[in-house]
Amino acid sequence: MAAFIVFEGIDGSGKSTQARALYRRLVSREILALLTHEPGGTPLGETLRRWVKRRPGLYPLTELYLFNAARAQLVEQVIRPALQDGVTVLADRYVASTVAYQSHGRGLDLTLVNQANQGATGGLAPDLTVFLDVSPEVGRGRKGGRARDNFDAAPVEFYRKVRQGYLEQVEQAKERGPDWLVLDGSLPRAQLAEEIWAKVQPLL
Ligand code: TYD
Repeated sequence: MAAFIVFEGIDGSGKSTQARALYRRLVSREILALLTHEPGGTPLGETLRRWVKRRPGLYPLTELYLFNAARAQLVEQVIRPALQDGVTVLADRYVASTVAYQSHGRGLDLTLVNQANQGATGGLAPDLTVFLDVSPEVGRGRKGGRARDNFDAAPVEFYRKVRQGYLEQVEQAKERGPDWLVLDGSLPRAQLAEEIWAKVQPLL
């Protein structure tokens, strides 16, 4: 069975490392899998990625729709067709990022953000969202303290709000069912990979 698995966390949480590790594990077991990331994953998405990361002076609303324009393209062009073909999709970020960053971080209305996400995805929800939780200080430390883009340059306070945005989504998800896996992102890499694998295996 093909599953749709998303990796989430603040910058420097280690989610991209874990997404790659799971992808390698699936491939080594000859399980059909695809690894993608947001923003990006399509030619349009990669162009928009450069805009949202590098252009100064983007308004929060502009960000919201640029991320969702990239997402709409990715869902239609890549994610849905793959799932339909029985390919398990691993995504480094998805709608929970927009809720955490553009609503909790940038202060946009949550209902507006949810509606934009819903519109861009046509309601396609992940089977599992893996959230690697680290403090903003740990995240920043891992990024080496270098401001490489608009988001790295944001103050620690911004990342505190973003993390809170993730934690609130975790709380809400508890009411819906076991579709989030929350892990302490400061644990050793190999241990995290095993815990993720234990949760993913039954989905495949
Ligand atoms: P990226 O280099 O992919 O960061 P990371 O490797 O840490 O995931 O840059 C993506 C940035 O865009 C990241 O700082 C989070 C931000 N972002 C949003 O603000 N909203 C979104 O909906 C998405 C997908 C990303």
